[in-house]
Amino acid sequence: MSRVDDHSEASVLGSFESCAVHRSRGALRQLLAALGAGLVGDTGPQELPAIFERELQRVLSVRAVRLRELPPRYHARLVTPTRTPDSIVLGVPSGDPRVQAVLEASSGPNRHLDDRDHDVLSTAAQLGGLVLEAARSRPLIRSTLAGTAPLVGSTAVMQTLRERLERVAATDFTVLIEGESGTGKELVARQLHELSHRRRGPFVAVNCAAVVETLLEAELFGIEDRTATGVRGRRGKFEHADGGTLFLDEVSDLSLSAQAKLLRAIQDLAIERVGATGARRVNTRIVVATNRPLSELVARGDFRADLYYRLSGVEIQVPALRHRREDISDLARYFLTRHRGTRELTLSEAAEDALKHYTWPGNVRELERLMERAVALTGCSRVEPEDLPPHVRGDYGAILAPSLAAGDSMRAWGTRYARLVFERCGRNKRRACRLLDISYHTLQSYLREDAAARSLEEADGDPAGELAAEALGETEV
Ligand SMILES: Nc1ncnc2c1ncn2[C@@H]1O[C@H](COP(=O)(O)OP(=O)(O)OP(=O)(O)O)[C@@H](O)[C@H]1O
Ligand SMILES: [Mg+2]
Repeated sequence: MSRVDDHSEASVLGSFESCAVHRSRGALRQLLAALGAGLVGDTGPQELPAIFERELQRVLSVRAVRLRELPPRYHARLVTPTRTPDSIVLGVPSGDPRVQAVLEASSGPNRHLDDRDHDVLSTAAQLGGLVLEAARSRPLIRSTLAGTAPLVGSTAVMQTLRERLERVAATDFTVLIEGESGTGKELVARQLHELSHRRRGPFVAVNCAAVVETLLEAELFGIEDRTATGVRGRRGKFEHADGGTLFLDEVSDLSLSAQAKLLRAIQDLAIERVGATGARRVNTRIVVATNRPLSELVARGDFRADLYYRLSGVEIQVPALRHRREDISDLARYFLTRHRGTRELTLSEAAEDALKHYTWPGNVRELERLMERAVALTGCSRVEPEDLPPHVRGDYGAILAPSLAAGDSMRAWGTRYARLVFERCGRNKRRACRLLDISYHTLQSYLREDAAARSLEEADGDPAGELAAEALGETEV
C-alpha cells in the first residue's frame, strides 16, 4: 500500500476513537483493506457494498451483514436504529435527503452482539455511506438491491422466518414457500433472492395460475424460431432467470403435464425450448410458492408426488396475520407511512385496537388495501374506527369499544358479553352456557345484572329492560 494510502487509512481510523479496543481497530483495518483492494481490482465500485458486507461479516464472525438503501416509498419508522442481543440496525449517512440507508447485522443463536460489535458497526455504518456513494457513481447494470420492500414484523414467528431465510439464502437449493393468500410469499421470495449471492442477477416471477395452459411450456422454457408458421423464437423464463432466481407462484395450479416438464427441468438443471432438438443448461435457483398445502394435493392425486418431494425439504411457512397480531400495528403504520407523500395520517389507539381484533382472512394484502382506503377516504388526519369498514371494526365496535369508553370492570364487561352471546344463540340458554363455558346459574346471574344495568340506563320507556326481563323469564334450557 502507498504512503498516501497508509496516511488516509490512519487518519480515518484516527477519527474513530470511540473504537477503543485494539481488536476493533484490527477489524476496521481489515475492512478498509478489503475495500481498497476491491476498488483497485477489476470488480468495479458496484461490487463495494458486497465486499463491505462480506468482510464485515467475516471480521465480526456474525451470521449476516447487509448494507442497503431503501427507496423513498419504503421509508418507515421501523428502520430507525434498533439493537437487540442478536441484531443491530443502524442508519447510514447519505448526502441525498431522499435516500435512506441502513446497516443491519444479525448474529447466530449462540452469539450475542456486544458493545465492541456495536462500536465497529457504528463506525462501519459511517463508512457504509461512502461505499454506497461510490457504488452509485457508476450505473448498475441490474439493480435489485434497493428494489425490495422490507419484511415488516418483529414477532417471534417473523424473527424465526428471517433466520430461516438467511440460512436458506446461503444455499442454492430449491425452496418451497407455503402460506395463505396475501401473507407475503412473493415478498419472502424476493428477500431470499436479495440475500443470496444471486442478488445482482435477475429475479423473474411467473404466476403459473395466470398463464394459459397451452402457452405455459413456451413461456417457461422458450420456443425455437419457426416451430410453427409465423412463430418467432424467444427465450423462456428459465433462461431469463439465468444467474438469478426463478419464482414460480401458485405452483399448485400447474397442470400434470406441466408438472412433468418442471420436474425434468429441476432434475437436469437443463431446459429444452419448444421445437428444439437439444437441452441447454441454465444456472437458475428455483423458488416456488403455493397457498394450498402441496402435501394435501398430493394425497388427492392433484399434484405429482415426485415433484412434491423435489420441491419440499427446504420449506418456509409464512404465518397468517391472525397468528402474529402484534405485527398489525407496525404493518398498518408502515403502509400509512408509504403514502405520506400523498397524505400524512396517524392511527388512533381505538382504530389500532380494532385492527388487532379483526381476523384478516386476506392477510397483509388486505391490511395494505385497507390503509390505502384510509388514505383515500379518511376525513381528518387521524384514522378512527369509524373510518374502517363495518366488517373490520365489527365485534370491536359492538363489544370492546363501548366497554373501554365506559371503563367497565371485568364483571360489567362479562355481563355485556354474556348478554350478546345469549342473543346470538337465539336466546337459547343451554347453547349460550355451552359457548360461554359457564353454568346455567352463572348465566342467570349475568343476565340479571345486565337487565338491572339496562333498566337503570333506560328508565323511561325501557325497551331494553323489558327485553332483559323477558330473557330472564325464558326457560328454554
Ligand atoms: N411482512 C411484510 N411487510 C411488508 N409488506 C408486506 C409483508 N407481507 C406482505 N406484504 C405486502 O403485502 C402484499 C401481498 O404480499 P405478497 O404478494 O408477497 O403475498 P402472497 O402471499 O404472495 O399472496 P398470494 O398468495 O395472493 O400470491 C404485497 O404488497 C407485499 O409487499
Ligand atoms: Mg403471490
